[in-house]
Amino acid sequence: MKILIVGSGGREHALAWRLKQSPRVTEIVAAPGNPGIAALARCENVAAENIEALVSLARLERPHLVIIGPEVPLVMGLADRLRAIDIPVFGPSARAAMLEGSKGFSKDFMAKYSIPTARYRRFEAHQAAEAKAYLETFDGPPYVLKADGLAAGKGVVIPETKAEAEAEIDAMLGGKFGAASTSLVIEEFMHGEEASFFALCDGETAVPLAGAQDHKRVGDGDTGPNTGGMGAYSPAPILDAAMQKRVMNEIVTPTVNGMKKDGRPYRGVLFVGLMIDQKHGPRVVEYNVRFGDPECQVIMARLKDDPLPQLLACATGGLAGCARLERFDDHAVSVVMAGAGYPGEPKKGSVIRNLEDAGKIPGVIVFHAGTAKKGDDIIANGGRVLNVTATAPTLQQAVTRAYEAVDAIDWPEGFCRRDIAWRALSREA
Ligand code: AMP
Ligand code: GLY
Repeated sequence: MKILIVGSGGREHALAWRLKQSPRVTEIVAAPGNPGIAALARCENVAAENIEALVSLARLERPHLVIIGPEVPLVMGLADRLRAIDIPVFGPSARAAMLEGSKGFSKDFMAKYSIPTARYRRFEAHQAAEAKAYLETFDGPPYVLKADGLAAGKGVVIPETKAEAEAEIDAMLGGKFGAASTSLVIEEFMHGEEASFFALCDGETAVPLAGAQDHKRVGDGDTGPNTGGMGAYSPAPILDAAMQKRVMNEIVTPTVNGMKKDGRPYRGVLFVGLMIDQKHGPRVVEYNVRFGDPECQVIMARLKDDPLPQLLACATGGLAGCARLERFDDHAVSVVMAGAGYPGEPKKGSVIRNLEDAGKIPGVIVFHAGTAKKGDDIIANGGRVLNVTATAPTLQQAVTRAYEAVDAIDWPEGFCRRDIAWRALSREA
């Protein structure tokens, strides 16, 4: 079987790496891929946002399955375009991808189907005064302001004072994030522990895949600005079997049923960002319509069963009759190595050495994200550059292996957090 993977990050490298092991996969094509993926697949230089060129590529290649990694092409309707030419796609239609593409849509959807989430209201560009008045209805800071549309992970602002929140309302409704923020959601700040839960869906049925936890802040101890994610681990202790069952019953199944009822059947992976506390149980922070990055890396690293049958069933139906993915390695950790300056403008072009040695450490896989090839060298070419991933029978061993590999990599211009998985480790202590 021939698979086309759309995207160029560590998430897509992890998917290619896992699918390469499937006995049914004969060829993988990636668009555009990266130097790590190039070791497993043929990379075609077509950007993940270039819908027309991706459709042409798919017409030419005729893959048996297309897996769309990032949210932007999904929200732009790539899955619809491919289904229209009878190519099976793992990923939701544009109408279903609204769950991530519009915060306002997702909040209204959750309200309609009584899916637990933070209290909210939506505001349009001319409603700054109403938005500021709505701040009064909360106990006090922090306030949660969300740009309606996609803003490359930067569209959520959590001001610590009312004055800051008011200024931010003016900035966002004034177009701080372009068209993405001329419509705004303001919602209640939820306390608790965050976790990421992944379920696979074929439009009718949803089955659980796995849970993970991410570290969004750039600095040790969860300090500094938010990033796309500086590291992840799976399983997440807070998402034990009982909690996963609650998330399926209270959130995932009602979501898939509601989307079907609304004529927006959801196909692909549903990534639910959760806030969990004793009082409220699991509540939705946000939906994403794709695998998390770097959560995908730890889930693929742990997964022992071949995911291909389920991924195909998500695309073509029949997920309920598919064998469950249930064999996993015990623990996986992924440490993100980023270029100096990230999450601001990262320095590019520095040479990364010793990747091979790092990859020889037992249980370690180094996934590439923002790398490029220059002659024979691998160079840094983005913010998040490498995802140093390790599996092991215990979480502590996985962490130790991952950092051993980080230390083996010779890249003085890169940095990483040194405390990935601290929350889960402190529970064990
Ligand atoms: P999002 O892009 O919606 O995931 O938001 C980015 C981050 O902001 C989340 O991962 C949370 O850490 C935080 N966040 C978003 N919404 C809330 C909320 N209602 N209460 C507390 N934290 C939130
Ligand atoms: N790591 C969080 C995300 O992929 O959105």
